[in-house]
Amino acid sequence: MNSKKIFINACYGNKVDRTPIWIMRQAGRYLPEYREIRKKHTFHQMMHTPELMEKVTMLPLNRYQLDAAIMFSDILVIPEALGMDFKLVPSIGPVFNNTLDINDLIKNLNYNDKYFLNIYDGIKNIKNTLNNEKALIGFSGSPWTIACYMIEGKPSKDYRNIRSLIYENQKSYHLLMDKLTNTIITYLKGQIIAGVDAIQIFDTNGSFLSKSNFEKFSLPYIKRIIDALNQFNIPIILFVKGGGHWLELIEQSGANVLGIDWTISLKYAKEQIKNRISLQGNLDPAVLLSSNEIITDEVKKVLKSYGKGYGHIFNLGHGITPDVSPDAVQTIINTIFKESPNYK
Ligand code: CP3
Repeated sequence: MNSKKIFINACYGNKVDRTPIWIMRQAGRYLPEYREIRKKHTFHQMMHTPELMEKVTMLPLNRYQLDAAIMFSDILVIPEALGMDFKLVPSIGPVFNNTLDINDLIKNLNYNDKYFLNIYDGIKNIKNTLNNEKALIGFSGSPWTIACYMIEGKPSKDYRNIRSLIYENQKSYHLLMDKLTNTIITYLKGQIIAGVDAIQIFDTNGSFLSKSNFEKFSLPYIKRIIDALNQFNIPIILFVKGGGHWLELIEQSGANVLGIDWTISLKYAKEQIKNRISLQGNLDPAVLLSSNEIITDEVKKVLKSYGKGYGHIFNLGHGITPDVSPDAVQTIINTIFKESPNYK
């Protein structure tokens, strides 16, 4: 069974002989070869030049026996397609040139239907290179998570401007969500038509919502996106950071796989969803800063926590951080190949 088949089978809980693995933010700054390319090009050039997008996407695959590539891009291409540009500012992160004036919403956001074309070309290049040996994951942020950045204008420790907006001006909030949802559906359909084999939706900022606010202000839009993609019959992975305590709600999204952060155990998650759908995760990314012995032990604990079964995709509980040694990733992969067949 090749890597792509192992990954896709695990997404549907079908038979595999080992656990598949990929890593969130696998094409990133912890790789020296990434930093080399980044010296010569801006982040935007890397995302929007199809050849560069392909090259960067392939960096971790050239080094490691990963089962899936994730296209090199960012969740913030959606606001850019709507006319809001950002720059990456060292030690801050993405900063928008203007924040969104919520009262001027309709006038300010105009979808540019040419914006995604280079990304679709990049996907076609990557697909050719992967030759159906490895799976290609496309992605988008959730409407809520993307809106957090648009309203705040930059990374924030609490995203309190948008959190107050959902109390104060629900009409505008829902109008914004509607626009984002439609744009995301167009974008993800385009990715699928260009050839991605699976989609991950990142609701990273789900962790800033209460359960009842997640249910009202984020979940309905995610559901709408997943419903619109159903016709394509490819796996949809939903990662809601902080959502471990409302898995039964997240399961209602219709996703095939739930991404689990490191704050709950896979055993608990599996029990909560009664093993009905697959799980992805959930090694604490901080473990990768420890010795190889500790990494090996902690990877074994994650495998044991999921236990016997086919519906597990190994990943971290959130993105790999720039300070990790590339060697740590090799240790994880060695452990998965050696130990995971014992759980099938
Ligand atoms: O996983 C991959 O390898 C694919 C590429 C990918 C990036 N961003 C590349 C990137 C993916 C899937 C993302 C998603 C993303 N982007 C999320 C959701 C997932 C998560 O990790 O929480 C969010 C919230 C963003 C927004 C964003 N983009 C932030 C907050 C930052 C700066 C801080 C940081 O973590 O680096 C970025 C920039 C960014 N996106 C970089 C990379 C490799 C760093 C770019 C650089 O400086 O070279």
